[in-house]
Amino acid sequence: MERTLIIVKPDGVQRGLIGRVITRLEDKGLRLAGLKLMKVSKELAETHYGEHRDKPFFGDLVSFITSSPVVVGVVEGPNAVSVTRGLVGATNPVDATAGTIRGDFGLSIGMNIIHASDAVETGQREVGLFFDESEIIDYSRDIESWIVE
Ligand code: RTP
Ligand code: MG
Repeated sequence: MERTLIIVKPDGVQRGLIGRVITRLEDKGLRLAGLKLMKVSKELAETHYGEHRDKPFFGDLVSFITSSPVVVGVVEGPNAVSVTRGLVGATNPVDATAGTIRGDFGLSIGMNIIHASDAVETGQREVGLFFDESEIIDYSRDIESWIVE
Protein backbone atom coordinates (compact mmCIF):
# COMPACT_ATOMS: atom_id res chain seq x y z
CA MET A 1 0.00 0.00 0.00
CA GLU A 2 1.35 3.41 -0.95
CA ARG A 3 2.34 5.69 1.94
CA THR A 4 2.78 9.43 2.25
CA LEU A 5 3.80 11.79 5.06
CA ILE A 6 1.58 14.66 6.14
CA ILE A 7 2.43 17.43 8.58
CA VAL A 8 -0.22 19.69 10.08
CA LYS A 9 2.08 22.70 10.28
CA PRO A 10 2.38 25.08 13.28
CA ASP A 11 -0.33 27.38 11.91
CA GLY A 12 -2.76 24.45 11.60
CA VAL A 13 -2.10 23.35 15.17
CA GLN A 14 -2.28 26.90 16.59
CA ARG A 15 -5.54 27.58 14.74
CA GLY A 16 -7.16 24.41 16.04
CA LEU A 17 -7.43 22.82 12.61
CA ILE A 18 -5.86 19.41 13.41
CA GLY A 19 -9.16 17.58 13.47
CA ARG A 20 -10.62 19.25 10.40
CA VAL A 21 -7.49 18.66 8.34
CA ILE A 22 -7.28 14.99 9.29
CA THR A 23 -11.01 14.58 8.72
CA ARG A 24 -10.49 15.59 5.06
CA LEU A 25 -8.06 12.70 4.65
CA GLU A 26 -10.31 10.23 6.48
CA ASP A 27 -13.36 11.37 4.52
CA LYS A 28 -11.54 10.47 1.30
CA GLY A 29 -11.04 6.93 2.58
CA LEU A 30 -7.31 7.21 3.30
CA ARG A 31 -6.07 5.35 6.39
CA LEU A 32 -3.78 6.69 9.11
CA ALA A 33 -0.98 4.25 9.90
CA GLY A 34 0.89 6.62 12.23
CA LEU A 35 0.08 9.88 14.01
CA LYS A 36 1.84 12.02 16.61
CA LEU A 37 2.24 15.54 18.01
CA MET A 38 5.88 16.66 18.07
CA LYS A 39 8.25 19.60 17.92
CA VAL A 40 10.48 19.52 14.86
CA SER A 41 14.17 20.13 15.62
CA LYS A 42 16.23 22.51 13.46
CA GLU A 43 18.26 19.54 12.22
CA LEU A 44 15.19 17.55 11.21
CA ALA A 45 13.64 20.60 9.54
CA GLU A 46 16.81 21.24 7.51
CA THR A 47 16.95 17.60 6.41
CA HIS A 48 13.24 17.41 5.58
CA TYR A 49 13.33 20.61 3.52
CA GLY A 50 16.85 19.96 2.19
CA GLU A 51 15.77 20.36 -1.44
CA HIS A 52 15.05 24.05 -0.66
CA ARG A 53 18.41 24.72 1.04
CA ASP A 54 19.49 27.28 -1.57
CA LYS A 55 16.14 29.08 -1.85
CA PRO A 56 15.72 32.56 -0.35
CA PHE A 57 12.84 31.38 1.86
CA PHE A 58 14.75 28.44 3.41
CA GLY A 59 15.60 30.20 6.70
CA ASP A 60 12.03 31.36 7.21
CA LEU A 61 10.73 27.89 6.34
CA VAL A 62 12.93 26.20 8.95
CA SER A 63 12.08 28.87 11.58
CA PHE A 64 8.38 28.44 10.89
CA ILE A 65 8.21 24.64 11.00
CA THR A 66 10.20 24.62 14.28
CA SER A 67 8.22 27.47 15.88
CA SER A 68 5.44 25.43 17.47
CA PRO A 69 4.32 21.78 17.61
CA VAL A 70 3.15 19.97 14.51
CA VAL A 71 1.13 16.82 13.95
CA VAL A 72 2.80 14.29 11.66
CA GLY A 73 0.97 11.41 10.07
CA VAL A 74 1.60 8.42 7.86
CA VAL A 75 -1.26 8.17 5.40
CA GLU A 76 -1.94 5.02 3.39
CA GLY A 77 -4.12 4.18 0.45
CA PRO A 78 -4.10 3.53 -3.30
CA ASN A 79 -2.13 6.37 -4.90
CA ALA A 80 -1.88 7.96 -1.44
CA VAL A 81 0.80 10.46 -2.53
CA SER A 82 -1.04 12.04 -5.46
CA VAL A 83 -4.47 11.72 -3.85
CA THR A 84 -3.25 13.54 -0.72
CA ARG A 85 -1.52 16.26 -2.77
CA GLY A 86 -4.83 16.77 -4.56
CA LEU A 87 -6.68 17.19 -1.27
CA VAL A 88 -3.98 19.61 -0.03
CA GLY A 89 -4.05 21.93 -3.07
CA ALA A 90 -1.59 24.38 -4.58
CA THR A 91 1.41 25.60 -2.55
CA ASN A 92 0.10 29.17 -2.38
CA PRO A 93 -3.31 29.13 -0.68
CA VAL A 94 -4.28 32.21 -2.70
CA ASP A 95 -4.09 30.05 -5.85
CA ALA A 96 -5.41 26.84 -4.28
CA THR A 97 -8.82 25.70 -5.50
CA ALA A 98 -11.74 26.02 -3.10
CA GLY A 99 -12.48 22.61 -1.67
CA THR A 100 -8.81 21.82 -1.08
CA ILE A 101 -7.35 22.17 2.41
CA ARG A 102 -5.14 25.13 1.49
CA GLY A 103 -7.88 26.62 -0.67
CA ASP A 104 -10.36 26.54 2.20
CA PHE A 105 -8.16 27.41 5.17
CA GLY A 106 -5.18 29.54 4.11
CA LEU A 107 -4.12 32.93 2.78
CA SER A 108 -0.29 32.92 3.00
CA ILE A 109 2.29 30.80 1.19
CA GLY A 110 4.42 30.61 4.33
CA MET A 111 1.48 29.45 6.44
CA ASN A 112 -0.24 26.91 4.24
CA ILE A 113 -1.43 24.56 7.00
CA ILE A 114 -0.27 21.20 5.75
CA HIS A 115 2.68 19.47 4.14
CA ALA A 116 2.32 16.38 1.98
CA SER A 117 5.06 14.39 0.25
CA ASP A 118 5.39 15.21 -3.45
CA ALA A 119 6.37 11.79 -4.89
CA VAL A 120 6.34 8.13 -3.89
CA GLU A 121 10.10 8.06 -3.19
CA THR A 122 9.83 11.32 -1.24
CA GLY A 123 7.04 9.79 0.84
CA GLN A 124 9.20 6.78 1.74
CA ARG A 125 12.11 9.05 2.69
CA GLU A 126 9.98 11.45 4.72
CA VAL A 127 8.09 8.71 6.59
CA GLY A 128 11.50 7.30 7.57
CA LEU A 129 12.66 10.72 8.78
CA PHE A 130 9.71 11.27 11.11
CA PHE A 131 8.70 7.76 12.22
CA ASP A 132 10.34 4.68 13.65
CA GLU A 133 9.00 1.51 12.03
CA SER A 134 7.58 0.58 15.49
CA GLU A 135 5.34 3.67 15.39
CA ILE A 136 3.66 2.61 12.15
CA ILE A 137 0.76 0.23 12.61
CA ASP A 138 -0.24 -2.38 10.06
CA TYR A 139 -4.00 -2.92 10.33
CA SER A 140 -7.16 -2.81 8.29
CA ARG A 141 -10.55 -1.25 9.03
CA ASP A 142 -13.81 -3.17 8.80
CA ILE A 143 -15.03 -0.61 6.25
CA GLU A 144 -12.06 -1.15 3.90
CA SER A 145 -13.96 -3.31 1.40
CA TRP A 146 -16.49 -0.48 0.98
CA ILE A 147 -13.75 1.98 0.05
CA VAL A 148 -11.30 0.10 -2.17
CA GLU A 149 -12.57 -2.40 -4.78
P1 RTP B 1 5.18 21.33 1.27
O1 RTP B 1 6.54 20.77 0.88
O2 RTP B 1 5.22 22.12 2.55
O3 RTP B 1 4.12 20.28 1.25
O4 RTP B 1 4.74 22.40 0.17
P2 RTP B 1 4.81 22.25 -1.40
O5 RTP B 1 5.39 20.92 -1.78
O6 RTP B 1 3.47 22.60 -1.94
O7 RTP B 1 5.82 23.42 -1.78
P3 RTP B 1 7.40 23.40 -1.82
O8 RTP B 1 7.82 23.95 -3.13
O9 RTP B 1 7.94 22.06 -1.41
O10 RTP B 1 7.78 24.48 -0.71
C1 RTP B 1 7.88 24.11 0.66
C2 RTP B 1 7.24 25.21 1.48
O11 RTP B 1 8.03 26.38 1.38
C3 RTP B 1 7.21 27.53 1.45
N1 RTP B 1 7.46 28.35 0.28
N2 RTP B 1 7.62 29.64 0.34
N3 RTP B 1 8.05 32.35 -0.32
C4 RTP B 1 8.03 31.45 -1.27
O12 RTP B 1 8.15 31.72 -2.45
C5 RTP B 1 7.81 30.06 -0.92
N4 RTP B 1 7.78 29.04 -1.75
C6 RTP B 1 7.57 27.94 -0.98
C7 RTP B 1 5.78 27.07 1.50
O13 RTP B 1 5.31 27.13 2.84
C8 RTP B 1 5.85 25.63 1.03
O14 RTP B 1 4.84 24.84 1.60
MG1 MG C 1 7.18 20.19 -0.99
